Amino acid sequence: MDFFNVVERRGSYREEFAQEAVPKETIEKMVSAAQKAPSGYNGQTTSFIAITEAGLRQKISGILPTPAVKTAPLLLAVITEKIVYHDDLVFEMQNYGAATENLMLAITDLGYAGVWMDGDTELADRKSQTFEKLLKLPEKYTLRAIIPVGKPLKEVTQKPKKELSAILHWQTFE
Ligand SMILES: Cc1cc2nc3c(=O)[nH]c(=O)nc-3n(C[C@H](O)[C@H](O)[C@H](O)COP(=O)(O)O)c2cc1C
Repeated sequence: MDFFNVVERRGSYREEFAQEAVPKETIEKMVSAAQKAPSGYNGQTTSFIAITEAGLRQKISGILPTPAVKTAPLLLAVITEKIVYHDDLVFEMQNYGAATENLMLAITDLGYAGVWMDGDTELADRKSQTFEKLLKLPEKYTLRAIIPVGKPLKEVTQKPKKELSAILHWQTFE
């Protein structure tokens, strides 16, 4: 698919998925695209856990009970590592954003859909503090997002965006 077509077709999908497993090679392709994103000092501080096992998916959907999480054949957990460079520079969150958008675009290109769940995941984890235990995360890693992935059963739409003129300025802001 043409790059700009993929960008237009990506949309947050929160509905039910088809009960069809995502092949291992496809998951590797998605994560490999995420890994190609730029990162500060090439620190590559973002990692992924592909959760396909039904029992574990069910436990996660108990904490995040949305239609997408309950039915997704694949849950991708996005985790980050904090590396502090000179002068206290940390690129953990920027790197995570770049990698996750590459991931969302790859998911779209491969004919799948999903939704980047960061806010809900963080709130659920604050309440239950069970995600990190469930996923057996070593201390230095932080879970940032859960992305339910699968073949969408309904239409995938992207939310309307602002007019380009509202966000693109020429030469100076005013
Ligand atoms: C950092 C971040 C956090 C998000 N957290 C959530 C979330 O917790 N739950 C959810 O349903 N969508 C979440 N989203 C998806 C946004 O709601 C969505 O991208 C936005 O409404 C625009 O819609 P679109 O993706 O269809 O363009 C998140 C997106 C980003 C980038």
